[in-house]
Amino acid sequence: MIGGVALRVTSPVLVGRVAEAAQLWAAFERAVAGSPATVVVAGEAGVGKTRLVSELLARARAHGALALVGGCLDVGEGVVAYAPMVEALRPLGELLGPEELERVLAGARPELARLVPELGAPVASVSSRGGSVGAEATGVLEPGRLFELLLGVLHRLAERGAVLLVVEDLYWADRSTRNLLGFLVRNLRGGVALVLTYRSDELHRRHPLRGFLAELERSGRVERLELGRLGRRELGELLAGILGEPPAPALVDEILARSEGNPFFAEELLAARVGGVGGSAELPEALRDLLLARVEALPEATQRMLQVAAVAGRRVDHDLLAEVAAQPPERLVELLREAVTHHLLVVDGGSGAYAFRHALVQEAIYDDLLPVQRPPLHAASAHALAARIEGEGGAGAAELGRLAYHWYAAHDLGRALLASVQAGQAAEAAFALAEAAGHYERALELWEQAPEAAANSPLDRSSLLQRAAQAASRVGEGARAVALINQAPAVPGGRLPGRRAAGRRRAGVRPRPARLGPGRQAPADRQGLPGAPRPGCDHLL
Ligand SMILES: Nc1ncnc2c1ncn2[C@@H]1O[C@H](COP(=O)(O)OP(=O)(O)O)[C@@H](O)[C@H]1O
Ligand SMILES: [Mg+2]
Repeated sequence: MIGGVALRVTSPVLVGRVAEAAQLWAAFERAVAGSPATVVVAGEAGVGKTRLVSELLARARAHGALALVGGCLDVGEGVVAYAPMVEALRPLGELLGPEELERVLAGARPELARLVPELGAPVASVSSRGGSVGAEATGVLEPGRLFELLLGVLHRLAERGAVLLVVEDLYWADRSTRNLLGFLVRNLRGGVALVLTYRSDELHRRHPLRGFLAELERSGRVERLELGRLGRRELGELLAGILGEPPAPALVDEILARSEGNPFFAEELLAARVGGVGGSAELPEALRDLLLARVEALPEATQRMLQVAAVAGRRVDHDLLAEVAAQPPERLVELLREAVTHHLLVVDGGSGAYAFRHALVQEAIYDDLLPVQRPPLHAASAHALAARIEGEGGAGAAELGRLAYHWYAAHDLGRALLASVQAGQAAEAAFALAEAAGHYERALELWEQAPEAAANSPLDRSSLLQRAAQAASRVGEGARAVALINQAPAVPGGRLPGRRAAGRRRAGVRPRPARLGPGRQAPADRQGLPGAPRPGCDHLL
């Protein structure tokens, strides 16, 4: 160990999970043999879902399969509709080469490039972030068409060899992603294995994922894999893997008692013990306290940087962190190095961004902030993001969604309103209609509270209501659409006013229709900005 910190916190070898790995592999082989195969992996946070599917991905790759993975993002990341698909498809160009990519994308290329800009033909005017809000409109693509296009791509990929698609953390999936996955489960033919993971703890009774999972189960097309905790022998192996030598039986007993066999807990307990945090007698029972004790053992400045990062999201890139943390570059590097050395942050290999080593770390730090501490940190994130967006002359839908979230959490209602309108327009253009409706609803919710911003909104209240209602109705949420229409100001004949209606005149705003560019970045969106009502249910199978 160096300076009281274990060289590693994770075991280089996968322990146990023989039956589970075999079940996943069997499903993959069934897909290879021509049958559809979908497995839903459930388990509490930290139990090893990511680790298990990572092994499957590596094994499938070693067998020459095309193994793609994407994760759903939580709120702190900004809500990106179809985020897992965007992430999974992003590396296709590199993996396939230009000619094969052209064949696989076929005619869908321009449309899919609106979702995943990396798939577009190189066009000088389109930035790598996917164009800007000011670019010319290309119209809204119906989600159903997008689903068909993606299905076609997956099938064409499967023609050249087996495909494994892993979608992680369904717990955070936006509605559009759930709808897409439901469609894929129903329609995927052989050659493609689909593995979905979700966090089964904290799935409260009304969580939208419940209905989705029930639908999947009823479809009879998915099998379930419940990942349990590790037993004593496996836990001993895990500790041995981390320590590089067999652990003392008393240590195994102690960590087993406290972690109850949850590998992430066990790793944290060991790290805390090795780092001398708390002292074993007072080691707090709850993981949250344990994690926080590890954080609190770090110098103040590192803690503050971690708080800033926790507010920014699960993953944050260096430049943004530098702006928000307001530290000189060399100092920031020192602080980051400390957080990485203590296994609180990890460097994300592909992007070079910093990520919390596990979502639980970020959640613990975020939750520990006092309510008065959060808004200014969100505001700092929002300012940094807004400056970046302005510098780049526009933003993809992902960033706009994230911006709206930060302004709202910063309690800056005016900016939250305007950003929500923009995020809604971006989501609409990027086929994420349910999320677009959510953004518009958020803007409407703020309408009365932020009259100045409302007067400057590119869409007036009537248009927002109309577009939100249209979006909701197009994704099959009739009740939600009706509720929105009922909020429209009464006009003679009781019909929803048109675009040039009273609201805009009242607000004194000239009509300025949403114009969203081709090759836009990933659809942004979030389902459930804090407190946003999400009536209706998924439209799925
Ligand atoms: N079977 C295992 N063998 C070795 N390490 C494991 C195993 N399962 C989980 N871990 C480790 O425990 C931690 C949490 O696992 P992770 O897969 O991230 O959990 P989840 O995705 O279920 O939240 C990770 O550091 C992971 O490497
Ligand atoms: Mg995970």
